[in-house]
Amino acid sequence: MRIIKSPAKMHEICRSFSAKGKTIGFVPTMGYLHQGHVSLLEKARKENDIVILSIYVNPTQFGPKEDLKKYPRDIGNDKKLAKRSKTDIIFIPSDKDMYPQGYGTFVDVGSVTNNLCGISRPGHFKGVATIVTKLFNIVIPNIAYFGQKDVQQCAVIKKLVSELNMFVKIKVLPIKRENDGLAISSRNVYLSEKEREDSRILCSALYYAKKSVKHGQRSSDKIIAKAKKMILSKRSAKIDYVKIVSQDTMKDIDKVEKKAVMAIAVFIGKTRLIDNIVLG
Ligand code: PAJ
Repeated sequence: MRIIKSPAKMHEICRSFSAKGKTIGFVPTMGYLHQGHVSLLEKARKENDIVILSIYVNPTQFGPKEDLKKYPRDIGNDKKLAKRSKTDIIFIPSDKDMYPQGYGTFVDVGSVTNNLCGISRPGHFKGVATIVTKLFNIVIPNIAYFGQKDVQQCAVIKKLVSELNMFVKIKVLPIKRENDGLAISSRNVYLSEKEREDSRILCSALYYAKKSVKHGQRSSDKIIAKAKKMILSKRSAKIDYVKIVSQDTMKDIDKVEKKAVMAIAVFIGKTRLIDNIVLG
């Protein structure tokens, strides 16, 4: 497994793989790897000749009051998990290389960013779209792997790739969960023991929503109201949003239909957790 830091060097290596007809599978991450990330790497390993993982805590996707400085990092463990997943190359660029002084080019994908996390985290998806565009330009992957955990991010990336004529196939893989249902996230380490217990309410609310749709409930308002009540039964919980949206457009929908997703963002104490479930 090689570690590459220079974007130019990374691109040169990827070009030579492509020239030899080798397919490149790419997994972009911010590091502090867990089983969610590993599932993407393993899928990439199965489907490609070369697997490239990027680790970069991208400053432009964090708001001024967010956790950029304290975002968890453990490069030693990341290398171990990457190696175990048979990753060929880890790309670890520096801030200086990604955003040199005077940097000014940003990618804005429009209306899919106008709801959910796009409201609570202004500028977040502009940062995500920008860094992913840059990484795709450097790595020129055949297939890039993303997690359903960040459902709005997936919609952003798909739109970006389609509208900017990037010939990268986007694959979205299911959410990996802890045994008790909590969606695995690098940010779960911020939770105290009690908060960790309370955080199970997120997936309980989502499972409840899924079950009520199975039993014939179609009214978004009714499902959302019950889910909110469940979440607020935990004293440490503060709701950012609980919504039912279309998976493609990220717009609110009144009646649960084929592409409906329930997406939630909840503060447990000071930690903001997101999760979602496909209802349609
Ligand atoms: P990060 O939060 O490190 O996540 C990297 C990838 O892992 C994303 O595609 C995310 O959806 C996926 N992932 C995270 N938790 C998961 C889980 N429990 N199950 C399955 N997949 C999971 O998302 C980012 O980084 C950044 O925004 C990035 C795309 C790298 C741009 O900076």
